[in-house]
Amino acid sequence: MSTLCKLTDRFLLSRPKSLILHSLFALLLSFAGPQAHAQGSTLAKEELACLSCHDKVGPGKALESGEILSLAISTKAYAESMHKETSCEDCHSDIDAKTHSKTIKTIKSKRDFALSMRESCRTCHTKKFTQYEDSVHAALIKDGNKEAPLCSDCHNPHTVRSTKIPAPHAANGCANCHEDIFKASTKDVHGLTRVVNGKTAPLCADCHKAHDVQAASLGNGVKDACLSCHENSINQHKEWLPNAARHFEAISCPVCHAPTAQRRVNLRLYDNVAMKQISEKTGVPQFEKLTQAADAKDLGLDERALWSLLKEFNQEGSQGKTVLRGRLEVLSGVEAHQLSEKSKAIKDCNVCHQKGAAPFQSVTLTIAGPDGRPIRHGVQKDVLTSLLATESVRGFYAIGSTRIKLLDTLFIMVMLGAVSVPIGHMTIKRLFKSVREKLAAEKIAAHSVADEKESTHHRRTDDDTSK
Ligand code: HEC
Ligand code: HEC
Ligand code: HEC
Ligand code: HEC
Ligand code: HEC
Ligand code: HEC
Ligand code: HEC
Ligand code: HEC
Ligand code: HEC
Repeated sequence: MSTLCKLTDRFLLSRPKSLILHSLFALLLSFAGPQAHAQGSTLAKEELACLSCHDKVGPGKALESGEILSLAISTKAYAESMHKETSCEDCHSDIDAKTHSKTIKTIKSKRDFALSMRESCRTCHTKKFTQYEDSVHAALIKDGNKEAPLCSDCHNPHTVRSTKIPAPHAANGCANCHEDIFKASTKDVHGLTRVVNGKTAPLCADCHKAHDVQAASLGNGVKDACLSCHENSINQHKEWLPNAARHFEAISCPVCHAPTAQRRVNLRLYDNVAMKQISEKTGVPQFEKLTQAADAKDLGLDERALWSLLKEFNQEGSQGKTVLRGRLEVLSGVEAHQLSEKSKAIKDCNVCHQKGAAPFQSVTLTIAGPDGRPIRHGVQKDVLTSLLATESVRGFYAIGSTRIKLLDTLFIMVMLGAVSVPIGHMTIKRLFKSVREKLAAEKIAAHSVADEKESTHHRRTDDDTSK
């Protein structure tokens, strides 16, 4: 029997979506011994009445889609489940025990049936239900997505066990749908060291939450999760990384901790007043319309296009409300789950702080879609190095990598001014050694750059008034 269980698990791992076979196995198991009935005797007689028909392997019910809905519910598993005291009719309130086996109800598809049952969890698990309703998964379902999970995709209502019993990594419901990410995460530093010195490494829900799952690159949810376990992280990074908090804001952790990953700059349309990423209004796909119009050939937005897009978003007297906030990210979801041990993490400042640094060669502009997931449009990389755009990319530039002389110069002057602060002095000195050598020349140039700024400023004012 335990080999059978293992087999089922193995099977589930390699072909997770084959739920039909899963229930077949479950059925075989439920029929395996007489103890099934002994266990079942703890159930109320109403449940046993339903189960007298349903604890049987039958042909199942043919659905319009051509799928077969297995009707088998294991008495043993039900009696061992957290719902053993819940009546079938609490959830299946539309079922009339006496008549329903005779009246054939047409059901379109398994998904349709599951959808029709989804409200059944609300009454008893109101809090979880509300959390879930705010999630990216629920938003996807509202949007008609057929793949996103309902409660019953992660918790089989007839076999649900206590979620406090630690489940092996493979039993993690998320794996069924996010298979590639799951595979990557079993091989990364957390996956390989599930338990170290009594501390447990995270599963999906520890970083993303189980119910209130939000788009990963949105907000600080994931970062905060990392820092809740790695409490001392900021201080440890501060030992070698100046202004670690600023770096944490602007760089997703895997950018340095998944050393082989490809990286890119994500320019997020950001509401400076509400302090959050701007969302596309439902039903008004402004972002896609504007970006497509501005970039018909799909070469990436250039700096003018970006500038006028921002102006568009700042209409109606909300000047300066919409800004761009830069963030370094890894390119793919899989790469975000390939964290390695700390000795392999990126420590070399030059990976980012030098001319032509790789992470700055790929740029994307995003807005949060109706489900919270980012909608993207490509941006030409030169935009990062242009002064005009910098006004709007405010607060995000890496010294050296983007050739913004004015800001670099100002920045370095500020840094030199702060040199009396002993911590980090040496690091900063080392980092900016070459830059400082050029500094004398820069200082002379600073005047003319300042002039340039003046003229840029005028140009912009002109733009504005001409509107
Ligand atoms: C006499 C045997 C019998 C009993 C008792 C019985 N069922 Fe059924 N059940 C069936 C059959 C047969 C079907 C398939 C009917 C069809 O093809 O539409 C079915 C279908 C279902 C379905 C699938 C959805 C649907 O409406 O077709 C659910 C859910 C269900 N039963 C729940 C229950 C519950 C809950 C009870 C107890 C209150 C119960 N059954 C008692 C025989 C039974
Ligand atoms: C906690 C709520 C809940 C309880 C209690 C419950 N069910 Fe269900 N049942 C569901 C949901 C939700 C679905 C549809 C989702 C799915 O596919 O599992 C379902 C589906 C079914 C189906 C269709 C086959 C299947 O697995 O999808 C049958 C038959 C069924 N239930 C019978 C029963 C019987 C018999 C009982 C009592 C012994 C029972 N249910 C108790 C929520 C419940
Ligand atoms: C009639 C009330 C009722 C309904 C409806 C109901 N549940 Fe439950 N559920 C319970 C009870 C009682 C428990 C036992 C543990 C507890 O008190 O939380 C439980 C436990 C659970 C657990 C395990 C909690 C833990 O502590 O680990 C999960 C998961 C769960 N239910 C999911 C569902 C899902 C999914 C649905 C809808 C398909 C559903 N429940 C509908 C009453 C209900
Ligand atoms: C994407 C998968 C997923 C979906 C969808 C999901 N859950 Fe859960 N649920 C989990 C996981 C994983 C846990 C255990 C870890 C946790 O709570 O952080 C859990 C835990 C629970 C618990 C026990 C939590 C506790 O603290 O006692 C309940 C009850 C529950 N879920 C009910 C529901 C209900 C009701 C829905 C639908 C509104 C739902 N879940 C949807 C994955 C999911
Ligand atoms: C150690 C924390 C951690 C764990 C554990 C984890 N993730 Fe992630 N996940 C992340 C980070 C970090 C990102 C990238 C977020 C960003 O852009 O900054 C991410 C991104 C994602 C994304 C979005 C990918 C995309 O295309 O943008 C999905 C989906 C996801 N994770 C699912 C999962 C699943 C499923 C699991 C479990 C198998 C899991 N994660 C485990 C931290 C984690
Ligand atoms: C029944 C399938 C299913 C299950 C189970 C499931 N997801 Fe998802 N999830 C999806 C789909 C579909 C999307 C949207 C497509 C995508 O982004 O991969 C999505 C999107 C996401 C996103 C947002 C991706 C982004 O762009 O940032 C995260 C994060 C996520 N899921 C995490 C989880 C976690 C954590 C679990 C387990 C607790 C889980 N999912 C379980 C189907 C599922
Ligand atoms: C600029 C690159 C960079 C960024 C961004 C970064 N790290 Fe690190 N991290 C490193 C390096 C390099 C080390 C190894 C330091 C050493 O060798 O002392 C490290 C070490 C660690 C360690 C091991 C701590 C120890 O010393 O034992 C943890 C945990 C960690 N980082 C978590 C994070 C988290 C969480 C984030 C995101 C909030 C993050 N890191 C962001 C580069 C980075
Ligand atoms: C549930 C707690 C938990 C969460 C959440 C978590 N970690 Fe970890 N992490 C661990 C444990 C436990 C280890 C292994 C033991 C250790 O080094 O502390 C580990 C190890 C690491 C290491 C390797 C450290 C080394 O010594 O080589 C890095 C790097 C790391 N985590 C980064 C992250 C990042 C980045 C995130 C968020 C995306 C994150 N962790 C989220 C618990 C967690
Ligand atoms: C993975 C890329 C990356 C690495 C590696 C990196 N940085 Fe940065 N750094 C950035 C980015 C991006 C910013 C801009 C943050 C902002 O302004 O939002 C930044 C900003 C800075 C700042 C300005 C912080 C402030 O107060 O505004 C300093 C100083 C700095 N980095 C020094 C370093 C040093 C020294 C190292 C190596 C020990 C290093 N960085 C490694 C990407 C990186």
